[in-house]
Order: sequence, then structure tokens, then C-alpha cells
Amino acid sequence: MQFLARNLVRRVSRTQVVSRNAYSTQTVRDIGQPTPASHPHLMAEGEVTPGIRIEEYIGRRKKLVELLPENSLAIISSAPVKMMTDVVPYTFRQDADYLYLTGCQQPGGVAVLSDERGLCMFMPESTPKDIAWEGEVAGVDAASEVFKADQAYPISKLPEILSDMIRHSSKVFHNVQSASQRYTNLDDFQNSASLGKVKTLSSLTHELRLIKSPAELKLMRESASIACQGLLKTMLHSKGFPDEGILSAQVEYECRVRGAQRMAFNPVVGGGSNASVIHYSRNDQRIKDGDLVLMDMGCELHGYVSDLTRTWPPCGKFSSVQEELYDLILQTNKECIKQCKPGTTIRQLNTYSTELLCDGLMKMGILKSRRLYHQLNPTSIGHYLGMDVHDSSAVGYDRPLQPGFVITIEPGVYIPSSFDCPERFQGIGIRIEDDVLITETGYEVLTGSMPKEIKHIETLLNNHCHDNSARTSPVSLCKVKGLHTNRNPRRLF
Ligand code: GLY
Ligand code: MN
Repeated sequence: MQFLARNLVRRVSRTQVVSRNAYSTQTVRDIGQPTPASHPHLMAEGEVTPGIRIEEYIGRRKKLVELLPENSLAIISSAPVKMMTDVVPYTFRQDADYLYLTGCQQPGGVAVLSDERGLCMFMPESTPKDIAWEGEVAGVDAASEVFKADQAYPISKLPEILSDMIRHSSKVFHNVQSASQRYTNLDDFQNSASLGKVKTLSSLTHELRLIKSPAELKLMRESASIACQGLLKTMLHSKGFPDEGILSAQVEYECRVRGAQRMAFNPVVGGGSNASVIHYSRNDQRIKDGDLVLMDMGCELHGYVSDLTRTWPPCGKFSSVQEELYDLILQTNKECIKQCKPGTTIRQLNTYSTELLCDGLMKMGILKSRRLYHQLNPTSIGHYLGMDVHDSSAVGYDRPLQPGFVITIEPGVYIPSSFDCPERFQGIGIRIEDDVLITETGYEVLTGSMPKEIKHIETLLNNHCHDNSARTSPVSLCKVKGLHTNRNPRRLF
């Protein structure tokens, strides 16, 4: 989609004309997010977001309309902007349902979908002051021309138009997580709610998002591959720099230079007993010689996330106690992955992993009773994965897996320092997590390139040439023997 040069400038006043285009080339309109014209290195013609074409977005909307009862509306708001302080926002992340259905990566809009009207988008109206502070954003023109909305209005028209749509609908589905007062405060919405006509949309959208299309799988594979490369580089680096904060910074750097827009979540980098805190996030401690470090990380690539965990000894050698416990988690990881196939459920995988882990922990004398198992592992063996890290959370774990589902397999054990067990096991936390695509015949491990065998990890850590200057400048990693930079802006390594 090419925008004309006439759109390049925006009148600030009668006498003053200021161009605020972040990507001004005199021929390309800035709509506040990449387009094939503004970012040809990222996007091919016909794509609305990198890797996903307009036909796919239209197909998703058609499927959602088919799932809606007759004469129903679906209202999906973009995610709210969260402020760090005063006028300074946190990095914006779009609501996954809104992104899935519209392709719009920006805040301030509300999308409404119905059989009668198709996609109707209410878009933000920027003032010159907004543009001066935040740059150009997608408005009504972009809604029609880029996102291919059937109808597009400025957001100020929402109360009048949406009220009328709600009044004429028998049911209103909406995205509760990102619900906006722009519509929940409308009298007609509140009347519908009081009559029991307002329903949750996520049960429908999460259903659609469970099965990934070929284009989505390409992005999921790429996201997983970036996570594997980033974690491997960080693992190698850990021998010279056993520090949670440095490793957290490095894994983010390694993912972002490979094209990821952000991490899928704040990485968990727990050294020693910090690894027994499941979602440890402080990442502020040195890792003691001989301790393990657990790193749970993932990145987001054009809306699709990865989720990967490895646990290793930065010193390069597992102790015999660490090896014994690690082997139990590794065997459980591998056995559960082997069970992944159409028809199996996450619940069944969880039951299987609980049996394996309980048996092992009892045999090692760590558990005195199977009843205590949940004190050492309160987590599920896995979850669905996609646009969100705990994706399609409205779908339960009793759903038979189908080709195109992506799930995680993440057995772990988290032994608090105070747990009543032989002292040598106290304060150890181990998790090994992979991303698994369900195929017609079984599975494909998307994170299979990241080593997890003890001998492979030890070999890698002990045959790696370190560059000490990397402590102050991660870029100098490219000077490490055997690594080469290339100048492709999407892929630096
Ligand atoms: N890796 C984060 C989680 O699964 O909760
Ligand atoms: Mn996970």
C-alpha cells in the first residue's frame, strides 16, 4: 500500500507546516507502524504485519463472525497505554486479540465486528501536539487502506455509532481484558449488560488462535530459533560473567539484534537457590562458583512468542548431586515430548510428568510422601503458546491437541532451602522447557536446537573462547573467534 506524498505533511496552523514523519522519504506515508513501503526489509507487498498477509487477517475475521451467534457484535479494544510516570509511558504492547483481528499495532482504537457490517474500526484522532510528542499514528485512512476495515470512523464518533449498533444486537461479545471505558460507559452497553446480553469474547478468539496457520508457524519457528541462539550465546558467556543481571541483559540483547522486537516476558535468571523461585525476576545477584543458573526466557517476533528454559552450571561442570536431579527433569522433559501428538491433552501430559517426577523424587529421598509433591512443583507441565506466552488461556487443558497447536513442555523441581530433605538437595531449582508444535504424526520441537544434554552443555561451556571485553561492550562479542558480523539490518549475527 503506497500512500501519496500529499499525506506527508500535516498542517499545524495556517502559517506553519511541520513534517513529523519518522520514516519520511517524500513518497512513503508514516502510519505509526511498519508497512511494505516504509520497511521493505521487513515486509513483502500484501503483508499487514511482517509475515501475515491481508487475506489471512480477513480470513480470521470471517471465521470469528461465523462463530458469533446471529445478530451479535464483537467489540475488541486495543490495549491501554500504561504510564511509567506523568507523561512517560511504558513500552506499548498490543492486545493479542486486537492484533490478531486487525493487524494494528497501536493504541487508541476500538474494533467492532459483525456479520452485518463486517469490520468497523474506530480510530484515534491525533492533534498536532500529539504528533509532536508521539509521532504519526494510524487513523481512519489507515484503517480503510491498510487494515481493510469495511467501515472506519474517528473515535469521537464511537458513542453515537456503537450505541446504535449495540441497541440493534441481541448479544454483545467483548474482550474483557482490554475493555475500554470508551464503550463500557455507554448507556446502551450497560443496559445490555444488565439484561445478560454481554458475553466474553476470548472463548471464541482463543479458539481461533489455538491452531496456527503456515504463516504463523513460520514466525513461531523463527521466534524459537532466535530464542535458542540468544540463550546459547548467553550460556557460553555465563562462564566468564556469572551474574544474573549481566546474563539477563545479554539474552535480551542477543534476541533483539536477531530481529526480536522485545522479550516475551522479563527473563527469569536465578542463580543457586534463586532458581527455586518459579518466576524469579530480581536478577540482581552474582552466581556462586559451582551453583546452577536457571534461565527462562523467550522473545517476541512480529507478534509471536517463544518460551525456553535451560539450567546449567556457569562454571562448566555439573556436580554429582546437580547431575542426579537434572537427569530426572531431563528424562521427564524427553518422555513428555514423546507423548505429544494429536488427541493427547495437556492434562494427561501433566499427570504423566507428575508420576515420573514423584517416582524420581521419592527414589532420591527428596520426597517423603507423594502428597508433598506440589510443594516442589506447583506448575503445569506446560501451556499453549502463540501470540501470548500463556496463550489461549480461555481454553482448558482437557482439550485434545490438534495439528497446529503449539505448547510448552516444562518439567521442573523447585526445592526451597528450608525444605525437609537431604541437605545436598536444598535450594536447587531446575526447569527444562521446550516449545513443541503438534503435527499430524506427532510433534516438532521448535526449540530443539538448544542443547539440554549434560555432556553437550559441558562440552560447549568448556570449549568456548571468551572475550573479556564483552563485559563492557556486548558488541565486541563479534570479535570472538569464529563469529562474524554481517550487515543485514534484520540480522546482525
Ligand atoms: N516461561 C514463563 C511461564 O511459562 O510461566
Ligand atoms: Mn512456559
